[in-house]
Amino acid sequence: MEGKNAIIICVSKHQGNTLKIANKMAEVLKCEVKGPKEISPEEILKYDIIGLGSGIYAFGMHRSLKRLIKKVKDGDGKKVFLFSTSADLDGKKYHKSMIRLLEKKNFNLIGEFNCPGSYFGLIFGKKGGVNPDRPDESDLNAAAEFARKMAF
Ligand SMILES: Cc1cc2nc3c(=O)[nH]c(=O)nc-3n(C[C@H](O)[C@H](O)[C@H](O)COP(=O)(O)O)c2cc1C
Repeated sequence: MEGKNAIIICVSKHQGNTLKIANKMAEVLKCEVKGPKEISPEEILKYDIIGLGSGIYAFGMHRSLKRLIKKVKDGDGKKVFLFSTSADLDGKKYHKSMIRLLEKKNFNLIGEFNCPGSYFGLIFGKKGGVNPDRPDESDLNAAAEFARKMAF
């Protein structure tokens, strides 16, 4: 992506699933991937496009991402996209509280991406886990395609 300045902020604590997606998007956007503690609320406003991503943990995005955004006084209409990986195939529904926060802070949500991520515990009553081998090649391709759209 030429001319635009992007940053991706990612939390990927469980299997590194979301980090795979973050790295793919960063390749397309030619930008860095940082953790929420590696960047200040003032610093994120220097970027034209801000990607916020995490695994879904207990029905939402990771709280450290929310904490970072809560500390921003005014998002000044900056473009933000959200991405996540989740056990649930319909994971975008877990973005809702983050979206509310972004609206409150005057950010401009330009897109959302979610794909399945492996989880090897007891979840939703399923023993032995769900989504083995996800994200896979097709998820990474979809993430790249999404990132290209975010650049426009
Ligand atoms: C503590 C914990 C809570 C989770 N809660 C949910 C959940 O509420 N809904 C869901 O769909 N997946 C849930 N998952 C599954 C993760 O979202 C999934 O494994 C994701 O790919 C993890 O991303 P990561 O490897 O980047 O951390 C949970 C996983 C963990 C470890």
